[in-house]
Amino acid sequence: MSPEASFPAFDNVRLATTKDLARIATVAAAGFYWSPVFQFQRPYFADFPEDTFNSYFTEYESAIEDPGSVVIVSEDDVSEKDPDGLYEALRKVPSTYPRQDANGKIIVGVCSITLNSGSGRVGQFQPGGKHVRPHLTTGSSGVKMQQRDQHGCATEMYNKLSGPAKAKYLAGQMRLSTVAVHPTYWRRGHGSRLVNWCTRLADIDGVPVGVSAAPTGVAITVKAGFEEQERVWIADYKLKRKSANGGDQTEHDIPGLELWIGIRKPRHPQVRNVVQTDCPMNGVIPFWSPRPWVPQAEDLSL
Ligand SMILES: CC(C)(COP(=O)(O)OP(=O)(O)OC[C@H]1O[C@@H](n2cnc3c(N)ncnc32)[C@H](O)[C@@H]1OP(=O)(O)O)[C@@H](O)C(=O)NCCC(=O)NCCS
Repeated sequence: MSPEASFPAFDNVRLATTKDLARIATVAAAGFYWSPVFQFQRPYFADFPEDTFNSYFTEYESAIEDPGSVVIVSEDDVSEKDPDGLYEALRKVPSTYPRQDANGKIIVGVCSITLNSGSGRVGQFQPGGKHVRPHLTTGSSGVKMQQRDQHGCATEMYNKLSGPAKAKYLAGQMRLSTVAVHPTYWRRGHGSRLVNWCTRLADIDGVPVGVSAAPTGVAITVKAGFEEQERVWIADYKLKRKSANGGDQTEHDIPGLELWIGIRKPRHPQVRNVVQTDCPMNGVIPFWSPRPWVPQAEDLSL
């Protein structure tokens, strides 16, 4: 089996489709709300929750349609506490109302992965097969991104400060781009399942995988074997805004944050990555391509 034909087992995760986008946008907004990057880049989130929803909708739409990306989701039984996990303003966006699928399941976690440059997997994860599509600010649905929840200068500063480290460590690498879980379903293993699918894909392909993690994402990536390369401090800033009645301007401190740049080296594929088939060979075949294994220093240490 060629590497291009093998995938990590889809145990409790699946590839996302564009039909999932409303729920994915809800999960992303609800989860990322707790990340300091969200608070830093979207200081007007309470005033423009539809813009936050639409921006995640189009971001994940582009990723699902991008041949160089993979978007996977994790599902669970719908909880009656589902709406409690959304911040107050987001609850007012009608499209965030939870709708379970025919199996009674609902998406509770999402993860996007950028493939390494030159990957033989480009185009494998899109429902329509290979088709090259440029990065767009809106996906094929045409949902408009107004970004009134964001502070343009904050995003610019964020990109400027994090750019050199990202270029140094992450350019051209497979990358764990985003992972978010709906807060109602935290600590049930969804985040780990999504991250582990990404690291298993990297192991099958024998490539390193990088991440630029917010402080809220460091524990889960360290647990998955990512190692620190650099920490980047994104400085605080002051936000001037008019009061609700359009009166005097007030100044707010928006706290900075430390970004954690990590890389995980590829490991020997694990034997548990198998898929059941009707194959006469006992019904079980390895779900990765055999390739020579060169022992690394860490494999030999006692
Ligand atoms: C980080 C996040 C994806 C974890 O999702 P999750 O489904 O709760 O993760 P898991 O249940 O698999 O937990 C994995 C580990 O993450 C760590 N972790 C998860 N939530 C945590 C919390 N609230 N406090 C401290 N550690 C936490 C723990 O080490 C945990 O392992 P343990 O339960 O064995 O102690 C989720 O909290 C989230 O969406 N946060 C906001 C978005 C974000 O910061 N994403 C990461 C950007 S890089």
